[in-house]
Amino acid sequence: MFKPVIKWSGSKRSQSSILKEFLPDKINRYYEPFIGGGSMLYAINPTNAVCGDICVPLIDLWNEIKNNPYALSESYRLRWTKLQTEGYQAYYEIRDVFNKNRSPEDLLFLSRTCVNGLIRFNANGDFNNSLHHTRPGIAPDSLKKIILDWSKHIQGTEFIAADYTITTETAKEGDLIYLDPPYFHTKGRYYGTIDYDVFLTYLEHLNRKGIKYMLSFDGIRGEHNFTVELPKDLYKRHEFIPSGNSSFKKVMDKESIHVLESLYLNW
Ligand SMILES: C[S@@+](CC[C@H](N)C(=O)[O-])C[C@H]1O[C@@H](n2cnc3c(N)ncnc32)[C@H](O)[C@@H]1O
Repeated sequence: MFKPVIKWSGSKRSQSSILKEFLPDKINRYYEPFIGGGSMLYAINPTNAVCGDICVPLIDLWNEIKNNPYALSESYRLRWTKLQTEGYQAYYEIRDVFNKNRSPEDLLFLSRTCVNGLIRFNANGDFNNSLHHTRPGIAPDSLKKIILDWSKHIQGTEFIAADYTITTETAKEGDLIYLDPPYFHTKGRYYGTIDYDVFLTYLEHLNRKGIKYMLSFDGIRGEHNFTVELPKDLYKRHEFIPSGNSSFKKVMDKESIHVLESLYLNW
């Protein structure tokens, strides 16, 4: 499986190869307005795409990966070397600086050296995860390879820091929108929230305009069913996709499955 360049909570990395199988044969332009760590973008590798997210420093980081991959890799090397030579204070200094100026270089460093690589913000948008004391953080040469690889993948993508409705304003018939919004039952787990009723009106609007969408939604976790039932007139197909390490084949064989996510398609 490919390596992530931005480690993002709720990443679709482990499902991306299965989700790809549901894509229509032909897509004019690919849209992903809740881009997060961009796993589907990488898996699909489109030549013409528009991606967005409400989290501004995240989009700034995507633009650096796209436009300045060498400088970004060097900025990581500088910060990482400072951490190895000066110790934990270096991490907290860089975190303080990020919380003042929100620079994408600092965000990349924090994401690669914080506890479990979890990018976490408080309600003010301040990064609040601590240093992972027992790990040095990915080596600069290894991260550089990953950054350069992703940079090639995203040259045909425009990144927009905006609400999902704005990122997809230019979508037309023949385009595909992949939607992976924050789950409605776990409000607050992600940066930004969205209103469910506004979201349903948005899906209705896509249907009226004949724009294809694929929507990932929470499904079933062990005994618990978190499926959010979309109104039936908004979609044509509803599938369950295994998340984590369970394989699609196992679901088909009806073997025990712990986590399933919903996928809705409007064609
Ligand atoms: C489930 S995550 C997406 C994860 C992504 N598919 C991946 O593979 O990493 C949801 C994303 O929606 C973003 N978000 C939340 N509210 C939003 C809004 N109103 N408009 C656009 N993005 C929003 C969050 O910042 C977060 O990155």
